[in-house]
Amino acid sequence: MTSQDLESFQIQKQGLEHAHSNFAEYKIIIILFEDITDGEIVCSFVKNLETTVKEKMSPLEGTAHSYEHVDRVVKMAILLAKKEKADIELVQVGAILHDVGRCVGQPHNETGAKLASEIMNNVHYPPKKTQKIARMVLLHPLDLKNKLNSLEEKIVWDADKIDLLGAVGIARGFHWCRKQSFDSAVKLAFETYTPIYDMLNTRSARELAEKRNRETMSFLSSLEKELSLADLGIS
Ligand SMILES: [Fe+2]
Ligand SMILES: [Fe+2]
Repeated sequence: MTSQDLESFQIQKQGLEHAHSNFAEYKIIIILFEDITDGEIVCSFVKNLETTVKEKMSPLEGTAHSYEHVDRVVKMAILLAKKEKADIELVQVGAILHDVGRCVGQPHNETGAKLASEIMNNVHYPPKKTQKIARMVLLHPLDLKNKLNSLEEKIVWDADKIDLLGAVGIARGFHWCRKQSFDSAVKLAFETYTPIYDMLNTRSARELAEKRNRETMSFLSSLEKELSLADLGIS
């Protein structure tokens, strides 16, 4: 596609977006736009969905589970979906909605699955796809890995867990534990971070997270040594 074609397409797309307001009518735009974006949906349907979720999650701003976390998960999930040749649309929408339940109550995967279905039904998203999205939201917690079925569910789960690795994961983890004792936070860090890398479902996720996992393991090793002063040769 030439730059002139692209410009003309974008003008048409803007006109169509302006003229239509529900998902079913957007679908044709999405299909056309997939050619340019390699499958990632960047039309106003997604922008509206992101805005809706961001508004709902605004009380969580500044926490370890703010929309910034969601945004990182969405970007990683799209990359993984492309590498794994998964359904990018499902992965993208599922990732945007995966933590929406945190603004409703616990268990956030269950409240999130219900709210995700309501949001998608309101925009007339296809019912079968809405069911798949709701399952992705329901099954994204760490301890539900064994219930994952589709590649798309595994990718959203993986992307969410990669945000628990590396410096960002450590910072999020300790912020999350701020109301607990220091000892509990340290214990939880060892128990949570150590198995994550080996739990990742897809090869692409393990490749993407390899460096972060090394950083996490190095941090835990240093933490263990420094807590006992072994790093300074003091016993
Ligand atoms: Fe979550
Ligand atoms: Fe999350």
